Amino acid sequence: MLGISRAAVWKQIQSLRQRGYEISASTRKGYRLAKKPDLLDADLIRSCLKTKWLGRDTRILAEVASTNEVALSLARDCPSGTVILAETQTKGRGRLSRSWASPPGGIWMSLILKLEMPLAHVYQINMAVAVAVCKAISSSLGLEAGIKWPNDLLIQERKICGILMEVSAQVDRLDYAVVGLGLNANNDPSDLPVEWKSTSLAAELGHDISRCVLICRILEEIEVALEKMGQQEIYEEWRSRSLTLKRQVRITSAAGDLEGEVVDLAEDGALLLLSGKEQKRILAGDCIHLRAAEAEQLDGEALEAEHYDRGDLGI
Ligand code: BTN
Repeated sequence: MLGISRAAVWKQIQSLRQRGYEISASTRKGYRLAKKPDLLDADLIRSCLKTKWLGRDTRILAEVASTNEVALSLARDCPSGTVILAETQTKGRGRLSRSWASPPGGIWMSLILKLEMPLAHVYQINMAVAVAVCKAISSSLGLEAGIKWPNDLLIQERKICGILMEVSAQVDRLDYAVVGLGLNANNDPSDLPVEWKSTSLAAELGHDISRCVLICRILEEIEVALEKMGQQEIYEEWRSRSLTLKRQVRITSAAGDLEGEVVDLAEDGALLLLSGKEQKRILAGDCIHLRAAEAEQLDGEALEAEHYDRGDLGI
């Protein structure tokens, strides 16, 4: 029907296989498509994305050192809302100069945001993004993710997503922010360092998901949340999704280690910690949730805290 030779068909089949399509072959019967790969596809994203400005310029790369690094290098010369995605990262960056493992199958994405705001308000971007990603995961997949302070996303106490914001500013005005999202989607969490206590969407659901469709939903929710930034609604959602509120935690910050109960989360993202008889206000630090048994020993005994991840404001 196509008027091409068997050799030409074979060549195309080989090219599809290289791109991850699983195609079985049977003598005299022909080829059969067994499994389509879940590849990032700019055309698919463009056709299903319903945003006004976020992700309208989406660039997909096969392998990069870090999408945040690429985004930072492009930020001056591209429009606000540009999105950089990669199939894999070789030097993915995590918070506090940690590395971020980024095997194929995950969503490794950086957003370039040029927003008019004082530098002191950039925590609102982090809040809006964390809330938006939780909502997108919930509405698209029916999975409930919570927020570990300041904004790691966990499902059943296992990390599903990390957020790393890097900014450039003039005196006290934001120039641009690059928000990097590392979301374990179809990648196997057993390939990640065990101490990270990670999970993935596929592991939670028992099947792979369409990353492109989820990326569209995430970008749509982020655009809506960014437009509501600074409003009480975003703070309330962020607070209500918190897994850290009322927990016993250990916070490591420049001022040293503090342990106690998280009594509240303030509107500016600060954690209010009751440590001994004193209440402390912590804006940035490394947070470890302590297990109930460990928390009971908070009177000074050495603690073997379960440490799955640390976080600061990620700026
Ligand atoms: C964390 O430490 O929890 C934050 C991890 C952020 C990882 C993402 S993956 C996409 C983007 N590019 C990077 O190099 N890092 C962020």
